[in-house]
Amino acid sequence: MNILITGAGGQLGRDLLRVLGQTYACTPLTRQELDICDIRAVQKTVNELKPDVVINAAGYSKVDQAEENSAEAYRINALGVSQLAIAAEEAGAKLVHVSTDYVFDGTKGEPYGETDRTNPLNIYGKSKLLGEQFVRAVCPRHFIVRTSWLYSNCGNNFVTKILSQAENQQDIKVVDDQFGSPTYTLDLAECIGRLITTERYGTYHVSNSGCCSRYDFAKEILQNAGYDLLPTRTKSADFVLPAPRPQHSALSHHVLEINGFPHMRNWKTALEDFLSTDWVHPDLSRGGIPHE
Ligand SMILES: NC(=O)c1ccc[n+]([C@@H]2O[C@H](COP(=O)([O-])OP(=O)(O)OC[C@H]3O[C@@H](n4cnc5c(N)ncnc54)[C@H](OP(=O)(O)O)[C@@H]3O)[C@@H](O)[C@H]2O)c1
Repeated sequence: MNILITGAGGQLGRDLLRVLGQTYACTPLTRQELDICDIRAVQKTVNELKPDVVINAAGYSKVDQAEENSAEAYRINALGVSQLAIAAEEAGAKLVHVSTDYVFDGTKGEPYGETDRTNPLNIYGKSKLLGEQFVRAVCPRHFIVRTSWLYSNCGNNFVTKILSQAENQQDIKVVDDQFGSPTYTLDLAECIGRLITTERYGTYHVSNSGCCSRYDFAKEILQNAGYDLLPTRTKSADFVLPAPRPQHSALSHHVLEINGFPHMRNWKTALEDFLSTDWVHPDLSRGGIPHE
């Protein structure tokens, strides 16, 4: 099986290659190598490579910046995705497109299922939802994979941010009124690896199992990394960011279950595994607030 991975320089892109590269012929293309918004380059690349599967790990994932930079968010998360979907469909390839829990407004009060009503609160979520809609309209052989709170060893994410603040002995203020499902990119990549061997197309929620607040997540990170520190509780209302976040956006995994895919491991187990490997180095160079 030939697999084209777009956005290969990102957190998920790298772990997709790490997992799928062991079994399949993968062509990982970074933004510099393939801009998904460049329609000619997309068509030329897909025509030449003739992939069996296209996995789109590219995205405009800066949630707060998207509020000011909405044209760019829509250009990448919707328009670029539509072009990739057209090229994949023309080539007869399966398409995996990665979307987000931020398509929901977080008011349900319990984990969201795949068929729950979407109602994004911010530009990022709206642009991702439009990307999903293009994929559904253009490419019947699709897997839309909604995930949440991603972390890996190579990005600016919540885990690396908390670790770098602990390292710098900063006061770590974390909201305790936002709930979701942290997800290790390696587990997501493994699940995508299982999906693509099937023809069980559709929309899937893929996150580590269970749910926690940002505060509990930070506490668990510090404890597992061996810091004798507790974060300071704060509220979303006291920590206002440009993009509003859903309050409770944990995902349930009905579609994985009914299609017979294995249970996703619990977020605490995945985090423990991640932090016990020796490749965890906070990437301090990129700074800023974690993406989601
Ligand atoms: N991070 C999360 O917590 C989270 C949660 C839910 C869903 N998701 C979704 O999961 C996917 C992967 O997220 P991630 O955390 O791996 O994001 P990431 O680390 O920001 O990676 C995204 C990659 O896409 C690249 N990219 C941006 N515009 C592109 C374009 N026009 N053409 C080709 N590549 C482009 C970026 O390159 P540059 O860095 O050079 O711009 C980056 O390497 C995204 O679709 C995101 O929306 C993420």
